[in-house]
Amino acid sequence: MIKIGSYTKEAIKHFKNPHNYGQMKKYDGLGKAGNIVCGDVMYLYIKIGKDEKGREIIKNIKFETYGCLAAIATSSVITDLVKGKTIKEALRFNRQEVVDSLGGLPLVKIHCSVLAVDALLEAIHDYLSKNKKPIPKKLQEKHQRIKKEKKEIEKRYKEWERIDGKIRKKQDL
Ligand code: FES
Repeated sequence: MIKIGSYTKEAIKHFKNPHNYGQMKKYDGLGKAGNIVCGDVMYLYIKIGKDEKGREIIKNIKFETYGCLAAIATSSVITDLVKGKTIKEALRFNRQEVVDSLGGLPLVKIHCSVLAVDALLEAIHDYLSKNKKPIPKKLQEKHQRIKKEKKEIEKRYKEWERIDGKIRKKQDL
């Protein structure tokens, strides 16, 4: 039998009181990511500053998502993890570390953690490309994968809208 598991206290704490939730009006990088499994989306904003050594760091970060409890909790925790970190350090975070910071996630919710990580990568990619800075090869590859998945989700939404429109028309709603 597959053990589905439940949310940890830490995940629920972040969900009930998400850190850095909201919109950022003046940002340096914006990351939009979609979850290929469920179709949920997320926006993540970063503001870049410098530390005392003159290195570029993520000075401020905010996120908005339509995702579930797991998506909100992982997004909240990732903003805590990367705030104040250099871009290089932020790029090193992977999904497992984010999930571990919450003490784990139910098995069926692991895919939700993709949103936070992908949106962060996209925000950094956006900042680097807008400022004509070198983009690491690995980040370029991940950007291509995320772009492809976003297209797939858009396609699905269009199809759902088409079907929904047809049903509503039939039912005269
Ligand atoms: Fe979509 Fe969790 S079910 S992000």
